[in-house]
Amino acid sequence: MSYTFTNNWFNVARGIWDQLLPNIAPRTVLEIGCYEGASTVYLMEMLGKSPRGEIHCVDTWGGGVEHGTTGSFSSDMRAVEVRFHENVSCAARIIQNSVDLTIHKGTSAKKLVELLAGGKEGYFDFVYVDGSHQAPDVICDAILGFKLLRIGGIMAFDDYLWAEQSRNGIDPLRCPKLAIDSFTNLYCRKLRIISAPLYQLYIQKTHD
Ligand SMILES: C[S@@+](CC[C@H](N)C(=O)[O-])C[C@H]1O[C@@H](n2cnc3c(N)ncnc32)[C@H](O)[C@@H]1O
Repeated sequence: MSYTFTNNWFNVARGIWDQLLPNIAPRTVLEIGCYEGASTVYLMEMLGKSPRGEIHCVDTWGGGVEHGTTGSFSSDMRAVEVRFHENVSCAARIIQNSVDLTIHKGTSAKKLVELLAGGKEGYFDFVYVDGSHQAPDVICDAILGFKLLRIGGIMAFDDYLWAEQSRNGIDPLRCPKLAIDSFTNLYCRKLRIISAPLYQLYIQKTHD
């Protein structure tokens, strides 16, 4: 059995991660927004090259606004969730070392707070933010994800330049960029921006 994906969204990240992630060799990963698991199985394959890898997956599997019937495209999220489980099961069978995968089904705001309350502050080597694309949700993911990231760890934002096209033009509150820019400006003394192709944005935590 092989993986089943219905889109190629992960292709942008794949090219950057192939270059970047071997340098930081993460062992603890937090993934916000997993969908069918394309990024998850990449991470499982990478972490599975050595013992004691750990991934925490956060998703509602309810889709974002853009996945709804009124958004830019629609998805059968129940089928998406089934494919996620099939894909991560497939990865678990082929990797050399088992990876400890924890699934947190629910909104990122709630699940990240639970991780913090459970003692995971400063715990993660790599945090991937690819959940809701609504600016108020993205700023929440950025701030809570940063708390969960260790000093020296990397946080990646997908879809920095993504914009929903609507009849009334672009609404900045329905895009990630305003939130990511606000976060990197407010936290400029605690992070450095890493040079990478601009569709995504990568930062390294330098201070708490
Ligand atoms: C763009 S997809 C993730 C794609 C995945 N990283 C990949 O590379 O294939 C966004 C995901 O975020 C989830 N999502 C949207 N809003 C969320 C929220 N507030 N909390 C948690 N997950 C959310 C959706 O259910 C969807 O599966």
